[in-house]
Amino acid sequence: MVTACVFDAYGTLFDVHSAVRRHVDRLGAVGAAVSQLWRTKQLEYTWLRTLMGRYVDFATVTADALDVALATHAVRDPALQADLLRAYLELDPYPDVIEVLHALRQRGVACSILSNGTEAMLAAAVAAAGVEGLIDSVISVDPLGMYKPDPRVYRHAIEVLSRADDDILFVSANSWDAIGAAHAGLQVAWINRTGLEPDHLGRSADHQLSDLRGLLALLDGL
Ligand code: LAC
Repeated sequence: MVTACVFDAYGTLFDVHSAVRRHVDRLGAVGAAVSQLWRTKQLEYTWLRTLMGRYVDFATVTADALDVALATHAVRDPALQADLLRAYLELDPYPDVIEVLHALRQRGVACSILSNGTEAMLAAAVAAAGVEGLIDSVISVDPLGMYKPDPRVYRHAIEVLSRADDDILFVSANSWDAIGAAHAGLQVAWINRTGLEPDHLGRSADHQLSDLRGLLALLDGL
């Protein structure tokens, strides 16, 4: 029986595109492209640095990726760059996050975060989103010096939580993260917000939902 949900942070609870949205008037027509490239480079750098054995923390990766995204679109504005990085510490939660975390709390389901973010980044994001009282624990990959989807990251979370695998449902809107957790032996719900085709990476998430609200019915049936 599932008694704990472990959520991915960026892209699942916190809307990574809300940083650029906040300053979109200063970016003009390239805003959406910068935001997309920032996220793409950020993820690529986590995978590549893990493969190369050249870990730097997620704050550094996030700043490096923004640098490249802005340069690619010929945006040279140090004040804007600093504001975007600051905004990344205070991302908007997706509209379904707070009500679903409340409902899970009422049902006695423990809620945690497992994320690439540093402890400081995650503490800031949780506080800015107003979900401090709804998240029981925050687990960062940072002490491990490697990023998702290395299976050791997911196993680390299970160890920290001291629960049986069957007690845990891992929840991510990032398809590759959901698959990584499934490969590591977790039961997984993939939040496929935008109706993406499932990736072919050897395993699939156990459950596919279109938003976090679907979790409540899913848990009733598990
Ligand atoms: C995280 C990345 C996957 O929060 O967004 O771990």
